[in-house]
Amino acid sequence: MNAPTGLPDLSHLWMPFTANRQFKSQPRLLAGAKGMYYTSVDGRQILDGTSGLWCVNAGHCREEIAQAIARQAGSLDYAPGFQLGHPLAFEAASAVAGLMPQGMDRIFFTNSGSESVDTALKIALAYHRARGDAQRTRLIGRERGYHGVGFGGISVGGISPNRKTFSGALLPAVDHLPHTHSLEHNAFSKGQPAWGAHLADDLERIVALHDPSTIAAVIVEPMAGSTGVLVPPQGYLERLREITAKYGILLIFDEVITGYGRLGAATASEFFGVTPDLITMAKGISNAAVPAGAVAVRREVHDAIVNGAQGGIEFFHGYTYSAHPLAAAAILATLDLYRREQLFTRARTLAPAFEAAAHTLKGAPNVIDVRNIGLVAGIELAPRDGAPGARAAEAFQKCFDSGLMVRYTGDTLAVSPPLIIEESQIAEMFQSIGKVLKEIA
Ligand SMILES: Cc1ncc(COP(=O)(O)O)c(C=O)c1O
Repeated sequence: MNAPTGLPDLSHLWMPFTANRQFKSQPRLLAGAKGMYYTSVDGRQILDGTSGLWCVNAGHCREEIAQAIARQAGSLDYAPGFQLGHPLAFEAASAVAGLMPQGMDRIFFTNSGSESVDTALKIALAYHRARGDAQRTRLIGRERGYHGVGFGGISVGGISPNRKTFSGALLPAVDHLPHTHSLEHNAFSKGQPAWGAHLADDLERIVALHDPSTIAAVIVEPMAGSTGVLVPPQGYLERLREITAKYGILLIFDEVITGYGRLGAATASEFFGVTPDLITMAKGISNAAVPAGAVAVRREVHDAIVNGAQGGIEFFHGYTYSAHPLAAAAILATLDLYRREQLFTRARTLAPAFEAAAHTLKGAPNVIDVRNIGLVAGIELAPRDGAPGARAAEAFQKCFDSGLMVRYTGDTLAVSPPLIIEESQIAEMFQSIGKVLKEIA
């Protein structure tokens, strides 16, 4: 395919999670970014309503992070992480541990959310084996869960297009909880919906079916972002915690999106007051300036594996780039920035204005739900007959053309701006969406 004039040859790059042919016929290319804005290749300013892909929580091209990365690239570009280390890796682990719930202070570094998820699932299996419970291998995910694209992640994930091509190769011992989305009961809820805590009780059914002695872990996103902003019903996460604790099953919160301030606290675990056994993270950990991820592990889980081993390598897992020096530098600079600018508190303070602005879209054409928590909102549109997703796709394109970046999944538009957003920009974002919704059929 020939690129439109002035653009690079678009044919070689096979783009991820993209309708390649459609994109290349009508490319949306970004050339720069600063603070709350992207600049497109044709020089337009685009308000970033999505923190890139839910990851640039402190806003774009922050000087402190860029300088830390540049300094590091010039002094120690790479150090092996197997049998060797470098001081920043340990410092970054301490800084991450300092933001995790009490007792979850053992940190394993990865490069992405998908790697964090697969790492956490492996830690769960290793933990039970180390304790003499090697038959605990079953993993429980949830419908509409997104846990990245590794074979572990798509197996526990609950998005059928991500699974069907690979269906013959998914992990065998997996079951799924029902998702919690219900327009009938919860449409236009503000914050946590009132209906749905009982859906966690389905775990009792799954446990009875398979027997607790076979189940290693339950993994859920405390707030599911990628599948359309699904906010946990009041009491739901607490119930999952009770049931998993009762049966000795590890609870993993996938906080790749919710980690680092999205809800107005360092983690969703802290925000909801529910502490799991493992937390997966990525994205905001480095403000996305360098790919990075991590798993925070409850100390007893770590100790069972590490102190329980006879000697030698205790956990046969790791990445060439675990705690890469540039990632470690970016993480330290990012976490310092979050602290100095009190960005998690800022998100919490802005949340009521954000909620009020989001819900002004109730009554806009085709809006069948608005849901929100912290600095994230989902606006669900009625699907067009025979063309699910088409209306949201058109809204996304029109928003982009008018200078606002949103995301869409199915027929839900998602908004999750950097935590540095101003109140006037919050108002502007939802007004722009409202205007676009009036323009499309
Ligand atoms: C909850 C959750 N887990 C895992 C991932 C995968 O992260 P990555 O794309 O960095 O592999 C994502 C990405 O959006 C996510 O939202």
